[in-house]
Amino acid sequence: MWSRNKLTERLKLEFPIFQAPMAKFTTPELAAAVSNAGGLGALGMWGLSAEDVITRIEGFREQSSGSLNVNYPLWKAPGDLTGVGLPMRECVQKLYDEKKLGPIPTPSASPGKLDPEHLEVLIEVKPEVISFHFGLPDQKIVDELKAAGIYILCSATTVSEAKFLEASGVDCVIAQGIEAGGHRGTFSDVDISMQSGLFSLLPQVVDAVNLPVIAAGGISDGRTMAAALMLGASGVLVGTAFLRCGEAKVPDAHRLALSNAQEASTILTNLISGVHARFIKNRLIEELQKPGVKPLPFPAQYSLTLPLGETGDKEFTDLLSGQSVALTREMSAADLVHTLAEETGKCLNSF
Ligand SMILES: Cc1cc2nc3c(=O)[nH]c(=O)nc-3n(C[C@H](O)[C@H](O)[C@H](O)COP(=O)(O)O)c2cc1C
Repeated sequence: MWSRNKLTERLKLEFPIFQAPMAKFTTPELAAAVSNAGGLGALGMWGLSAEDVITRIEGFREQSSGSLNVNYPLWKAPGDLTGVGLPMRECVQKLYDEKKLGPIPTPSASPGKLDPEHLEVLIEVKPEVISFHFGLPDQKIVDELKAAGIYILCSATTVSEAKFLEASGVDCVIAQGIEAGGHRGTFSDVDISMQSGLFSLLPQVVDAVNLPVIAAGGISDGRTMAAALMLGASGVLVGTAFLRCGEAKVPDAHRLALSNAQEASTILTNLISGVHARFIKNRLIEELQKPGVKPLPFPAQYSLTLPLGETGDKEFTDLLSGQSVALTREMSAADLVHTLAEETGKCLNSF
């Protein structure tokens, strides 16, 4: 049976379908609906406190007894920002003036971390899976989580990152192709222009590591999911397609942009947050693409750009999205899991 393998057995899943953890967009309702439908639901914990982590996990547990993936993107806070990025600040101020938002805020940024308080919570609450983005925490933390029986995933955008993750004891690698929506999970110094699409990256990662590999980037229907399985993936991580589900917390402007997007609507840029991520291109990005105007260090750039999106104008909102957005469909999360499974089965059985 195509839908069962060691990974699905280990995580008690009916289908090898992993809903991508997408920060604030992923609600307990969404994760629970996916897990109840036989996939793996996920909650993004982007920069959240340990208390918020507990609340979100409890919200999931109230609605599902299935497995859960809890996600930590990790980053260091940038140093002193005094006087940094003045041309960018001037450029953003013009947009604030246009939207009558007053003076831009003083740029700020806190770290994305898994500190001892988080660790205590995680060991106690024990989500079945913890996934990392932008690399791993200290080895001691990885070892403690594993010793507690938690299954560890982490994104890799190159073969050497995947090999590093294997050597660090990760249980399963997510191969994130360049098509993917959201931030690149890159944690090495590989240049963005040299990163691979999933069709190239996935089989090379599968060959390089002795671990199950999950494919991420552009998976939106049965054809793309079947192709990933044919290339050696043990599962697929689906982000943008789940943004179209009612259970995801997506502002109206962002939903509208997703439903109107085409094959060439997205762009990889560091101008919104400070590191590269894929967005639907809009006026905000065009206005910031000026010679000599560089973003502030991640994630301080977000402290300047995100308030513009709070106006509700889609031309000024951060419209995270993958390249296959035009292949995605509006439906409930349970329907999406079942549709993907049915279409994939048909594709694989037609050989
Ligand atoms: C809106 C959005 C937010 C995301 N936020 C996160 C995140 O917080 N943590 C993470 O590990 N990955 C995040 N990602 C990346 C996904 O994990 C995944 O790599 C990507 O969605 C797969 O490509 P697709 O969007 O084409 O399906 C995000 C993706 C999107 C679209």
